[in-house]
Amino acid sequence: MEIHFSSLALVSVVVLHLGLSAESIPVYQATTTGPVGAGDDNVILNPRFEDGLNNWSGKGCKIELHKSMEDGKVFPQSGMFFASATNRTENWNGIEQDITGRVQRKVAYQVTAVVRIYVDNDTSAGVQITLWLQEPDFREQYISIASSQVTNKDWVQLQGEFLLNETPSRLVIYLEGPSPGTDILVNSLVVKRAEKIPASARPFSKNATFGGNIIENSYLDDGTTGWFPLGNCALSVGTGSPHVLPPMARDSLGTYESLSGRYIMVTNRSDSWMGPAQMITDKLKLYLTYQVSAWVRIGPGATSPQIVNVALGVDGQWINGGEVEFNDDNWHEIGGSFRIEKQPSNVMVYVQGPASGVDLMVSGLQIFPVNRQVRFKYLKKQTDKIRKRDIILKFSRSESSNTVGNSVKVRQIKNSFPLGSCVTRTSMDNEKFVKFLVKSFNWAVFENELKWSWTEPQEGKFNYRDADELLDLCKSYNIEVRGHCIFWEMEYTIQSWVRSLNASGLMTAVQNRLTGLLTRYKGQFRHYDVNNEMLHGSFYLDRLGKDIRANMFKTSHELDPYATLFVNDYHIEDGSDIRSTPEKYIQQILDLQKQGAPVGGIGIQGHIDVPVGPIICSALDKLGTLGIPIWFTELDVSCPNEFVRADDLEVVLREAFAHPAVEGVILWGFWELYMSRKNAHLVNADGKINAAGKRFLSLKKEWLSHASGHIDELGEFRFRGFHGTYNVEFVSTTEKVNMTFVVDQGESPLVVSIDL
Ligand SMILES: *[C@@H]1O[C@H](CO)[C@@H](O)[C@H](O)[C@H]1NC(C)=O
Ligand SMILES: *[C@@H]1O[C@H](CO)[C@@H](O)[C@H](O)[C@H]1NC(C)=O
Ligand SMILES: *[C@@H]1O[C@H](CO)[C@@H](O)[C@H](O)[C@H]1NC(C)=O
Ligand SMILES: *[C@@H]1O[C@H](CO)[C@@H](O)[C@H](O)[C@H]1NC(C)=O
Ligand SMILES: *[C@@H]1O[C@H](CO)[C@@H](O)[C@H](O)[C@H]1NC(C)=O
Ligand SMILES: *[C@@H]1O[C@H](CO)[C@@H](O)[C@H](O)[C@H]1NC(C)=O
Ligand SMILES: *[C@@H]1O[C@H](CO)[C@@H](O)[C@H](O)[C@H]1NC(C)=O
Repeated sequence: MEIHFSSLALVSVVVLHLGLSAESIPVYQATTTGPVGAGDDNVILNPRFEDGLNNWSGKGCKIELHKSMEDGKVFPQSGMFFASATNRTENWNGIEQDITGRVQRKVAYQVTAVVRIYVDNDTSAGVQITLWLQEPDFREQYISIASSQVTNKDWVQLQGEFLLNETPSRLVIYLEGPSPGTDILVNSLVVKRAEKIPASARPFSKNATFGGNIIENSYLDDGTTGWFPLGNCALSVGTGSPHVLPPMARDSLGTYESLSGRYIMVTNRSDSWMGPAQMITDKLKLYLTYQVSAWVRIGPGATSPQIVNVALGVDGQWINGGEVEFNDDNWHEIGGSFRIEKQPSNVMVYVQGPASGVDLMVSGLQIFPVNRQVRFKYLKKQTDKIRKRDIILKFSRSESSNTVGNSVKVRQIKNSFPLGSCVTRTSMDNEKFVKFLVKSFNWAVFENELKWSWTEPQEGKFNYRDADELLDLCKSYNIEVRGHCIFWEMEYTIQSWVRSLNASGLMTAVQNRLTGLLTRYKGQFRHYDVNNEMLHGSFYLDRLGKDIRANMFKTSHELDPYATLFVNDYHIEDGSDIRSTPEKYIQQILDLQKQGAPVGGIGIQGHIDVPVGPIICSALDKLGTLGIPIWFTELDVSCPNEFVRADDLEVVLREAFAHPAVEGVILWGFWELYMSRKNAHLVNADGKINAAGKRFLSLKKEWLSHASGHIDELGEFRFRGFHGTYNVEFVSTTEKVNMTFVVDQGESPLVVSIDL
């Protein structure tokens, strides 16, 4: 392919808003400004009821002051008093305080409440701290800050944080939740500026040594030495298992070492948790990423599919080290990963899962720390192959003078790979959020604002305003938008009026939703997640029958042929969920296609923990066989240590960028307290870019190509660079040329002719 520019056309080819160049790294300073003295003050007046019920009121109920209750069985946990919300007739009734004007925007606050309930019986109840706010334009918002199960036995501390992006005209904090008849008791409520958490330190040195396998006698050279049976099952050694390493381990270890062909045979299993085990407490290092790998098989006699799971018992807590499900007598690869972040006193690994009476075979179980740097080297080569192109700048001029030897400077302004983030309507009010968004991303998705429960919370009462405003913002910055989501199969996400419809009413509502949404926004959303999480939920399928899913796709396509229609699901890529393995996802997509559904994209949400490159890559390879573009649609990684978080993010981004089937990556937010997952943010609440954010920006920088040199005898300048938009400067004694060109995908070198 060839594109041709002449110098006359220079002005018109500058298509980008260059102020938004991805090259410069924005540096936001922590906001330390604010009214003097605001630092430690509790926003709540009379927080411990020492001044009676002054400044408090009942939200839809009565409130009372107590020194004790129930003839002296209930006392305050601290201080002299507590209050109760009583005569409650709705779940949202409770005790409230108006804090209008006492909270600053863009500052994180920490909320702590000491609560319990008072009820005749022994049931526990969920108690929640909620913030209600009204914006200057009368729009209302409810922000849930913290919640917990609470009993009538003990005081419980609820804790959470919040951040407001704009100054509300009214702001009320209250406690709510239990069903009517239950009293909410409050001993204290504190709302303070959140303390700045000091930046975390890198927990291990960059060149930490990566020892090998920590499992003793993995290959069973020495009988069952090192192994013990968990429960009263019996272990013996058999032969005839695969000699090859499971592929995901092979790709991490970079070796073709062979296995012994011996396996542990587990018989006399009288419970599903019984299997071979080892203690590995002393062999684990904190914060390293451990990969788990083995071949597993089951004996005859199973009538239904059996689950096999590698489990880590960490101080009695179960951690999933990988899971497979099958119903044949072949060997299956099992793989997973885990990480320990606090010194444990006891760690056991065991293999479990099949029903009692079913024999289990385990071969070559290995647990080893993953050396991510080695993988990155490989990925960089792959990336170079698929995300770059050879470019030939051909300089020619009409006069006889030549260009040979003149210097050329090429800078890439933007990489065209779609990289996006989730946004929310309220975060638009934070100008720093918007600034980071437009500098760093070329795609976006709305967290909630397009969901049915948001656009039609009550039947016939529509709210498209938030989605419209977000869409306008994105358009104004040339940000493409995914539509998330038309439907969502998980019952808990479905608003009550929809849940209460009978089948014919639901069918009509589904049609109306499709027509309403897709007609309104025709041509505006580039993608739609048609029916979110179909591997995990079945609300519509159960009520409307097996054709409904394909029909949703078909109708969507008719209404808006411009949009690419996606399936979208979670735990596809990490080996940890047998409901959503790549195999099951593939089957679902094939079934949809067989029914005529135009599935145009595969969404991997990517809410991932402890990512391991070859495990992710294995899933991408399998899904890639369908020939449909794959997108990471909701990527987030969570770790309190921001360096480890940065490493995790780098793993997923590099795997995605290096894989030929992946055509885009959307992060599920980046701003602290505006992400559904905790400890996943790239930018702290105060605007400071943390280690994870810096890593993200440095990857973006790495994925820009720059070149400079001299024009050769053929009048050409050649380089290889990432797909995207470039700026070329050419200076000679007589001319100064400065123009923009775009490099798109293609096998052959791109020739850009520049007529001088
Ligand atoms: C809090 O209560 C005290 C006593 O009733 C009252 O004087 C004060 O104005 C109240 N403060 C606010 C902000 O309502
Ligand atoms: C509150 O409830 C108590 C007990 O159920 C009842 O005796 C009392 O009359 C109620 N008070 C009001 C104001 O409704
Ligand atoms: C306990 O009492 C509450 C409040 O009256 C009621 O909602 C709940 O159903 C009761 N639970 C049981 C198990 O009776
Ligand atoms: C990294 O490895 C080198 C060579 O093994 C060693 O000299 C150096 O001390 C190590 N650095 C750290 C921070 O551990
Ligand atoms: C396994 O079970 C069989 C029959 O249930 C029994 O005969 C055998 O002794 C058991 N073997 C072991 C090692 O416990
Ligand atoms: C379903 O609900 C609608 C509206 O409530 C009602 O008119 C209709 O008769 C119901 N249909 C069936 C089959 O129950
Ligand atoms: C060329 O254009 C770009 C973008 O407009 C600008 O940033 C750069 O400074 C220009 N270079 C020269 C030498 O004028």
